[in-house]
Amino acid sequence: MTVQINTLFDEDAIATRVAALAEEISQSKPERLLVVAVLKGSFIFSADLVRAMHRAGLKPEMEFMHLSSYGAGTTGSNEIKILRDVESDVNGRDIILVDDILESGRTLTFAKERLMERGAKSVKIAALLDKPDHRKVAIFADYVGFACPDKFVVGYGMDMGHAWRQLPFIGYVVPDEDAGNGETVGD
Ligand code: IMP
Ligand code: MG
Repeated sequence: MTVQINTLFDEDAIATRVAALAEEISQSKPERLLVVAVLKGSFIFSADLVRAMHRAGLKPEMEFMHLSSYGAGTTGSNEIKILRDVESDVNGRDIILVDDILESGRTLTFAKERLMERGAKSVKIAALLDKPDHRKVAIFADYVGFACPDKFVVGYGMDMGHAWRQLPFIGYVVPDEDAGNGETVGD
């Protein structure tokens, strides 16, 4: 299948922004810092972010939480399930919860609540992309990579039907009727 994907944020723009986020995080002087990456979409962003944190003088530990949201269509009553939980004790720790996209806000609200009820000292959210148009829960990211237009994005960890996570840039899928200009990927 051939899909046209246009670049939204290229590799240089992402690297610059990730470094700036790490600097911003280091200025908050976190203690016993634990980065919790929400799988799968944040795997590349979190990998780059912890390395940028290291360059910014931080020594984060890392954990992973695999969450899955089972949508109930347009009713919006999504149920979130924990497919894999963090293993470390989060009690008393400053946590940065990292995800690819903050959209409805349900996933990150759920994850933040679970970590707070286990005694985290603080839970701050770092979202690579903020898509505010479809927010259903009042939640804000403390650190945002980029404001994202209301388009379906892929790459840099984000997928469309399991494909395109490997793209080194963030792109958006061009609907068939608008295809013509831009990069075409696929076979
Ligand atoms: P929400 O904030 O609970 O709605 O969760 C947002 C999640 O939906 C993201 O972490 C992605 O997994 C997925 N998602 C939302 N928009 C997109 C998109 O444009 N491309 C790929 N995944 C998306
Ligand atoms: Mg996700």
